[in-house]
Amino acid sequence: MLTVSEKRIDMDKNVLIQAAMDVRKHAYAPYSHFAVGAALETDAGQIYLGCNVENASYSATCCAERGAFQVAIANGEHAFKRIAIVGGAVDSKIQSVCMPCGICRQVMREFCDDTFEILVTDGETVSSYTLEELLPGAFSKNDLTISED
Ligand code: THU
Repeated sequence: MLTVSEKRIDMDKNVLIQAAMDVRKHAYAPYSHFAVGAALETDAGQIYLGCNVENASYSATCCAERGAFQVAIANGEHAFKRIAIVGGAVDSKIQSVCMPCGICRQVMREFCDDTFEILVTDGETVSSYTLEELLPGAFSKNDLTISED
């Protein structure tokens, strides 16, 4: 649905899931053989994509979700609505949900509020969580505010 006054495209959840499925094909996962795709939607309806990019020095690996946020931020985006995440064995269909790892949840917390939506699928149905549900009681930039007292 296109609401012209807001210049906002309200796309179907399945469009975002499909975008995550498509970018998942580009995952570089020679070590885990677990390919992940993420599609991040801004408030304005723009989609930014990410896939996991692994490294021989394992800790240098970047998750799909953080890849999507990196590109979005580099494009000047700061208002995010939701993210779709799909993951599973390389060259296999999605058979179970891939929940975002703790580091990615913390990165989401940096740029998104409690209502930011995380969409995951087992290949059959789409489930939705809020960031508040997945990272309750989070440490955030608000905690760094120095009190005047
Ligand atoms: N991975 C992601 O890309 N996102 C997640 O939220 C979970 C894990 C990647 C990292 C690594 O390349 C592979 O999946 C196995 O952990």
